[in-house]
Amino acid sequence: TDKELDGIYAFAVQLGKDAGKMLLEAAQLRFSGGGQPPQEFVEKDNAVDIVTKTDEEVEAFIKTSIAERYPHHNFIGEETYSKSPSRAYLISPTSPTPTWLVDPLDGTVNYTHLFPMFCVSIAVVIAGQPIIGVIYAPFLNQLFTACRGRSAWLNETQRLPLILEPAVPPMPRNAPGGCIFACEWGKDRRDGADGNLRRKVESFVTMAAEATAKDRKGGMVHGVRSLGSATLDLAYTAMGAFDIWWEGGCWEWDVAAGIAILQEAGGLVTTANPPEDYATAEIEEVSLGSRLYLAIRPAGSSESESGRQGQ
Ligand code: IPD
Repeated sequence: TDKELDGIYAFAVQLGKDAGKMLLEAAQLRFSGGGQPPQEFVEKDNAVDIVTKTDEEVEAFIKTSIAERYPHHNFIGEETYSKSPSRAYLISPTSPTPTWLVDPLDGTVNYTHLFPMFCVSIAVVIAGQPIIGVIYAPFLNQLFTACRGRSAWLNETQRLPLILEPAVPPMPRNAPGGCIFACEWGKDRRDGADGNLRRKVESFVTMAAEATAKDRKGGMVHGVRSLGSATLDLAYTAMGAFDIWWEGGCWEWDVAAGIAILQEAGGLVTTANPPEDYATAEIEEVSLGSRLYLAIRPAGSSESESGRQGQ
């Protein structure tokens, strides 16, 4: 029911705030210097797939809190998955039982390198659809929240997308000019792996580089960004700061909360490969588990609706 959903949403938001506080305290100890030892990490599947004690502590806190409050809900967490011998989990496309999808520390590499783009990411998925999303980046003091039918918010007061002046037109599909593209490197650096990372990054960089040619005006990419947190990329796309985001090879806990927030803000997420497929792709509702995601920012805020029409 709506009331039950409201209760789960409020609980998820509080959980995000509490978990974010844990991340901040752990980070501040290191960021303030004071002779703290360097953050220790352990490699998981390869040299860029790492985990810290903080990831594990925060996930344990979130998992226990959910089990106490909602013992019948399902739980899938990045670190629980990494440690499970079977490495199997199921997100039922039909079950009405809520599944919590949690990344306790998205941007673990950033965290270990003192780059402040990291966050906790909590999603609730029902019948295969991300319905609730909570992303909290405590160092940036940015809390992104959304629940289906209840809008998407920054710090609980600013509706997403943020009002952009002048009003931002919908993304032109054939010539994405004046954009910021965001993409991530992922953890599988093999050539030809999911989504063909090298080719994609090269094509983004080429589009951005061409923009500096004097005879090319408009239609060119303003910049290419890579925050090191897929979750935050999606939140920034929902905000309107990024125009397009792409990654091949991410897990459900990297994207579920961001998808809930982006969709509630009016943005789109699909499985197309940019840039070439972007112009022609049918934009369909993405299904969790595709591993390949392309997100497109909302066209603007409802307040700027009329301004957008003529563009
Ligand atoms: C990773 C980050 C990274 C993305 C990877 C994710 P983690 O999550 O979001 O930007 O490229 O696909 O797995 O390991 O920092 O939680």
